Amino acid sequence: MKLMVVGGGGREHAIIKKLKENKDVEKIYALPGNGGIAMDATCVDIGAKEIEKIVEFAVSEKIDYAVVAPDDPLVLGAVDALTEAGIPCFGPDKKAAIIEGSKVFSKNLMKKYHIPTAEYEVFSDMDAALKYLDTAPIPTVIKADGLALGKGVIIAMTREEAKAAVKSMMEDKVFGKSGDNIVIEEFLTGPEVSVLAFTDGYVVKPMVSSMDHKRAGDNDTGLNTGGMGTVAPNPYYTKDIADECMEKIFLPTIEAMKSEGRTFKGCLYFGLMLTEKGPKVIEYNCRFGDPETQVVLPLMESDLLTVMKAVTEEKLSETEVKFGSGSACCVIMASKGYPESYEKGFVMTIPSEISGNVYVAGAKLEDGKLLTNGGRVLGATATDENLAGAIEKA
Ligand code: AMP
Ligand code: GLY
Repeated sequence: MKLMVVGGGGREHAIIKKLKENKDVEKIYALPGNGGIAMDATCVDIGAKEIEKIVEFAVSEKIDYAVVAPDDPLVLGAVDALTEAGIPCFGPDKKAAIIEGSKVFSKNLMKKYHIPTAEYEVFSDMDAALKYLDTAPIPTVIKADGLALGKGVIIAMTREEAKAAVKSMMEDKVFGKSGDNIVIEEFLTGPEVSVLAFTDGYVVKPMVSSMDHKRAGDNDTGLNTGGMGTVAPNPYYTKDIADECMEKIFLPTIEAMKSEGRTFKGCLYFGLMLTEKGPKVIEYNCRFGDPETQVVLPLMESDLLTVMKAVTEEKLSETEVKFGSGSACCVIMASKGYPESYEKGFVMTIPSEISGNVYVAGAKLEDGKLLTNGGRVLGATATDENLAGAIEKA
């Protein structure tokens, strides 16, 4: 089989490595991939948002199965375009991807179907939002409606900060049209859990839970980042909590999307907070998480391609999704200075004895050398019987 994976980060590298375990896979193309992914797939210089070119390539190369991993192409309708061209693929269509593409949509969905989440108000008018903030409970959370490269959420500890955030989104348009509408929501506290789940629209099969660490420094210090490391399973996510989430969050979400005529097929990411009043949804993503995927997939015992195809063919109920009982830890290596200013172009060497568990996020190949090409450059994952062992090895 010839496969194609759209995307080019550590998450896509982890997906590609897992897909390669299937012996029917002869070739994998990565669009655009990166210098590290090039060790495991054939990289093609087509950007993840260039939908027309992606479809043209898939058709001309007679791709048997495609995986669209990042949020942007999913929200732009890459799966719709590929399906229309006769290429079977993994990922939600545009109508369903709105669950991540619009926070106003997802908040209203949760309200309508009684899915637990933070209290909120939606604003399309800046003055109304600023007036609301005169009396809103503080701290508060300001969210741009649309995609914003993972930066569209501001936790405001004071009224002034909250107002500045609203102005930056609605007046200065720092996130462009994504800030035309905003959500202002209740500040929640508690441990955060990421649960990625396969769903074909009929059944939902959660993967092992995980936990993202977003601060740049050790011991949860420093600036917020796109994610500096992950562990799985999440130590706070007990069997009882998992059962409660299935009943009150996962199944109701799948049903809600179906009722709205937006059946979700793919990987649905539940960003949860375990509050004193029970688990609540912080966010939905329409895709695998990054760097959650880098700890979840190494623990997966079932064949990824088989499960993905079962999702596409709506046969997930008959397909086993099995995870090992061990733990995994992924530590991200970043260029000094990330997430602020940093240099690129450092030579990287990945020793072959560990390369199996290294996922390259930002690198390019130049004259046979692997050079860093971003802030976060790679993730090193280790698995072990328990979490302490996995952390030590990673
Ligand atoms: P999001 O992009 O919606 O995941 O938000 C990014 C991060 O902001 C989350 O992972 C949380 O740590 C934090 N966050 C989002 N919403 C809230 C909230 N209502 N209360 C507290 N923290 C939040
Ligand atoms: N790790 C958070 C995300 O993938 O959105």
